[in-house]
Amino acid sequence: TDVLEVLRAKRDGRALTDEQIRFVLDGFTAGTVADEQMAALCMAIVFQGMSPHELSTWTRVMLESGTRLDLGDVGRPTVDKHSTGGVGDKVSLVLVPLVAACGAAVPQLAGRGLGHTGGTLDKLEAIPGWSPHLDLADLREALATVGGVICGAGDDLAPADRRLYALRDVTATVEAIPLIASSIMSKKIASGTSALVLDVKVGAGAFLPEVDRGRELAETMVGLGRDHGVRTVALLTDMDAPLGRACGNALEVTESLEVLQGGGPDDLRTVTLALAEEMLALVGLDADPAEVLASGRALDTFDAMVRRQGGDPDAPLPTSSEVVEVPAPATGTLRRLDARAVGEAAWRLGAGRARKEHPVSASAGVVCRAKPGDAVTEGDAVLELHLDDPDRLEGALAALETAIEVGDAPPTPRPLVLDRIA
Ligand code: URA
Repeated sequence: TDVLEVLRAKRDGRALTDEQIRFVLDGFTAGTVADEQMAALCMAIVFQGMSPHELSTWTRVMLESGTRLDLGDVGRPTVDKHSTGGVGDKVSLVLVPLVAACGAAVPQLAGRGLGHTGGTLDKLEAIPGWSPHLDLADLREALATVGGVICGAGDDLAPADRRLYALRDVTATVEAIPLIASSIMSKKIASGTSALVLDVKVGAGAFLPEVDRGRELAETMVGLGRDHGVRTVALLTDMDAPLGRACGNALEVTESLEVLQGGGPDDLRTVTLALAEEMLALVGLDADPAEVLASGRALDTFDAMVRRQGGDPDAPLPTSSEVVEVPAPATGTLRRLDARAVGEAAWRLGAGRARKEHPVSASAGVVCRAKPGDAVTEGDAVLELHLDDPDRLEGALAALETAIEVGDAPPTPRPLVLDRIA
């Protein structure tokens, strides 16, 4: 096999053989296939796609570039959740302890935020003392005792994906459904979970805004789960407006605690409970997550998870030195609050990073005082911008220029859970 032959085949729309896929991915990992060759192949895949068989092989080779954990011995059924990323999406902070408190083991090996959506590890790092590092023996022990773990993924989990993603990121080849699906699923399958619920976001703040594209991604990932022995279900959920009210690391921890204490915003609660029900059904546990949430047991599990990784759940969270209000431009009904713009504003205030080696601010972010459908009065705050660095204000305000739309008629209601794919 020769690499040019592989590139020509995909360029001209022919399916790659298992041998060709193995040759090119293993060669890329080993350094015998050059970055520019892999970039050309990714671009050809953007245009030509992959057949289900090619994609399954591609995912298997990515998976086999590292170790696949075996968590069959932790004494509880394992189930995880993955979100394709949203603005204000702090669901994991509530869902992982909740499903653990219902009796499952949730091994969530999470990532960091890049761009306008935040990362779960960045959010938890707002808690004084908390560390994302956990070795394999500790991971197993925590799953057996506490039940829920959110920690950083080790370097040996689908290492081929890390290099490939970095290359796609700088060659405009991230947005190809087969490449996204194999990237996400190789990491999730490698993490050793027996079952997986996918939260595929659609709408203005989603990675793939169009519902049809989101559905195609969901179907592709569910198929890959099936091919690799991981029971997988996907929910398509709305991400036109931010989820909940808080966007920013410490702000999102605070809001998650409100939900764990039985309160919090309805939309965040609804999406979290829908995902929890799917997770429990996949592993055959018949606990009622709403009841467990109300009982305070999920909050106790959250505290135990935080302590297990060095955090102090009772310590005050960092707050910003300055809060600037963004007023409603008119009196009426808030018709639209653009999730992407709010996410970008939070990112510009310091909640996210432009490059993966940059630090993030724990305290910066945006709080939505009104959500679509709420009545607003001209001059009253729709958003609060939390910041420590005054130089960041201008960029955040620019990002929000067309984010808020006020009108007479209420927005067309759209359900939070748009579809279920199994
Ligand atoms: N998230 C991933 O992990 N991989 C992708 O390709 C896109 C989003």
